[in-house]
Amino acid sequence: MEALVVKDLRKDYGKLHALNGVSFSVHEGELFGLLGPNGAGKSTLIKIIPGTVKSNGGTVSLFGKPVDRKLIGIVPQDDSLYNELTVKENLMFFGSLYGVSKDKLNKVSNQLITMLGLKNKKNALTKTLSGGMRKRLNIGCSIMHEPKLLIMDEPTVGLDPESRRLVWKIIRDIHNRGVTIIITTHYMDEADMLCDRVAIITKGVVAAIGSPDELRDSAGEDVIEIETKSGQLDALLKFSEIIPDVTSVDIVYKTLRIKTFEAEAILPKIIKYSQKIGEELTNVNVRKATLEDAFVILTGGTAEIKKSNKKLSGIPKVEEWKK
Ligand SMILES: Nc1ncnc2c1ncn2[C@@H]1O[C@H](COP(=O)(O)OP(=O)(O)OP(=O)(O)O)[C@@H](O)[C@H]1O
Ligand SMILES: [Mg+2]
Repeated sequence: MEALVVKDLRKDYGKLHALNGVSFSVHEGELFGLLGPNGAGKSTLIKIIPGTVKSNGGTVSLFGKPVDRKLIGIVPQDDSLYNELTVKENLMFFGSLYGVSKDKLNKVSNQLITMLGLKNKKNALTKTLSGGMRKRLNIGCSIMHEPKLLIMDEPTVGLDPESRRLVWKIIRDIHNRGVTIIITTHYMDEADMLCDRVAIITKGVVAAIGSPDELRDSAGEDVIEIETKSGQLDALLKFSEIIPDVTSVDIVYKTLRIKTFEAEAILPKIIKYSQKIGEELTNVNVRKATLEDAFVILTGGTAEIKKSNKKLSGIPKVEEWKK
């Protein structure tokens, strides 16, 4: 059963086509990620699903029926918590907005306070919470009415690593209760770790959809990482840049990072060249592209080879060596 089916969704803001025919499905029980550069249309999409924003065309169905707002929980990027209410009062207030019965309000809010790790803040005024605690409370308020689909817009943006981990744990806990979840995020590690599948949205359309592994495979790129004993990488960088089939080359810390679809063919050339110039390699590693690498490829970010402008001297001319 599909939890959500979105078909050919369109949204114009004046002349701007924010959504250009977006179609995808989210399976029941799935943790689904929406990735995409700034302005891709993710938030617009998220607002259309529950009907907060009207589309200019297309359809949305939820569990095979027209959308019932009560089945959806929304965690907007900016919260609408009441500062002068306590943590528990905010939970109860948002629960009552969604028609949760009085006797249930108390029970559910107490359960959630424990799950959110806010037990010692239960009676604290919301204005006294840290950003991370606020975010957790915001998530809690959105699930007081026990929605079947939870949609979160950038749930971990601006949080420190510890707070991010706490939010991840809460997302997993909610997911383990059988709730279907959609999150948007700019953090590739987060999408990779949390999501069963992700859709990459660019310019108002779905550019790619699949599990993080499938997206890595469809991007198809490998990354060769090389370190040298001397720490000198300029000559190898210059050499790698002119090898056909190398997509991009850069130096990250003390590692030369070469992206290519032809690692097997290219690696021997680099090793041979390093021997030729007497540069001892201390580490050579070939790995699959990360989700972030795949994202850049799938959103069309790496067509060109990054050329370095550094002037180099004392290095054998590659043309000579090739002869
Ligand atoms: N209310 C609005 N009025 C006019 N244009 C809008 C409105 N909301 C969004 N847009 C435009 O629609 C496009 C998609 O915006 P949206 O907020 O959906 O992108 P996003 O993928 O969520 O981006 P981000 O990653 O920065 O949050 C952008 O060009 C944006 O400027
Ligand atoms: Mg957004």
